[in-house]
Amino acid sequence: MNEMMPVSDIATPKLPTLPDAQTVTQVTHWTDRLFSFRMTRPASMRFRSGEFVMIGLMGDVNEKTGKAKPLLRAYSIASPSWDEELEFYSIKVPDGPLTSRLQHIKVGDEIIMRPKPVGTLVHDALIPGKRLWFFATGTGFAPFASLLREPQTYEDYDEVIITHTCRTAGELTYGRELIEALEHDEMLNEVIGEGFWKKIKYYPTTTREQSAKMGRITDLINSGEAYAELGVEPLCPQNDRAMICGNLAFNLELKAMLEAAGLEEGANSKPAQYVVEKAFLD
Ligand SMILES: Cc1cc2nc3c(=O)[nH]c(=O)nc-3n(C[C@H](O)[C@H](O)[C@H](O)COP(=O)(O)OP(=O)(O)OC[C@H]3O[C@@H](n4cnc5c(N)ncnc54)[C@H](O)[C@@H]3O)c2cc1C
Ligand SMILES: NC(=O)c1ccc[n+]([C@@H]2O[C@H](COP(=O)([O-])OP(=O)(O)OC[C@H]3O[C@@H](n4cnc5c(N)ncnc54)[C@H](OP(=O)(O)O)[C@@H]3O)[C@@H](O)[C@H]2O)c1
Repeated sequence: MNEMMPVSDIATPKLPTLPDAQTVTQVTHWTDRLFSFRMTRPASMRFRSGEFVMIGLMGDVNEKTGKAKPLLRAYSIASPSWDEELEFYSIKVPDGPLTSRLQHIKVGDEIIMRPKPVGTLVHDALIPGKRLWFFATGTGFAPFASLLREPQTYEDYDEVIITHTCRTAGELTYGRELIEALEHDEMLNEVIGEGFWKKIKYYPTTTREQSAKMGRITDLINSGEAYAELGVEPLCPQNDRAMICGNLAFNLELKAMLEAAGLEEGANSKPAQYVVEKAFLD
């Protein structure tokens, strides 16, 4: 080794020390409750945009056994399948076993990941249609952050509508900035087609803080207001396909609305007209 080499040059890259460990490359805090981070991706890992994996940190040492076990939680991969890194969008639960610690991660830290992606919010679980709806609340936006950057989304559909309902305006920022950035993403405009982002209709709403559009998306659809503002016909099984990701009550309410409109739930094994996944377990 050259003894004159600067320390900064010989200190990188850091080798993983935990099982299945990946290294954090970027952390962004959006609000006091929300952050996103990027980390390395194993070269052998394949996934379909919209899927989730188990990630986490090493838990505390058990006093009896003297051993520590990984503390893992399900997380939607927010980056698209072609990205060389992995991105996640996370809640900070103040006393949450994982996120009370995960919210303090820094660039260079290690995250454990079980690289076995699964999930229902995938194109394979839907049959062809004209218009694709992404319905999200809170961190339920994460799988759609992946699918909004997935070329197949624009190859398969004429129109892509993303609705995001949060309590406060600050909780919409991650999604809003991601969608606004698509217009200027040279690589995506080249690969998917110039102006692909014009297929997107973005419909953000807040429920507990003033913003340009107030109200739950379920109420805005039931009243017809959302259709009128988006300039689309009511949901129908011939044209519309949908993916839902939010809290349990939201998922159930939207599911009932889609069924009433004549859409059938799909799965990987039996593609149909809509799919649903919980953004977190209650
Ligand atoms: C399929 C699936 C995908 C998921 N994807 C994500 C994701 O992309 N991003 C993410 O932040 N979380 C996601 N979650 C939730 C995640 O698994 C953890 O629950 C979360 O990281 C909190 O972990 P914790 O150990 O700190 O608290 P936990 O003990 O897991 O949760 C404590 C309580 O916090 C609330 N809570 C947990 N997660 C959320 C959330 N995301 N939004 C609002 N309230 C929540 C619930 O009331 C829960 O009972 C997903 C869960 C499932 C089942
Ligand atoms: N967000 C915060 O500022 C905040 C702060 C402290 C603690 N927490 C806690 O964190 C947990 C998760 O909060 P969260 O805000 O991320 O998620 P959330 O409670 O699931 O709410 C996210 C959004 O979904 C809407 N929503 C809820 N049920 C719905 C339904 N059936 N149909 C349509 N829309 C629906 C909410 O509207 P409504 O507002 O009308 O319910 C809100 O705009 C909760 O346990 C909460 O107590 C949140």
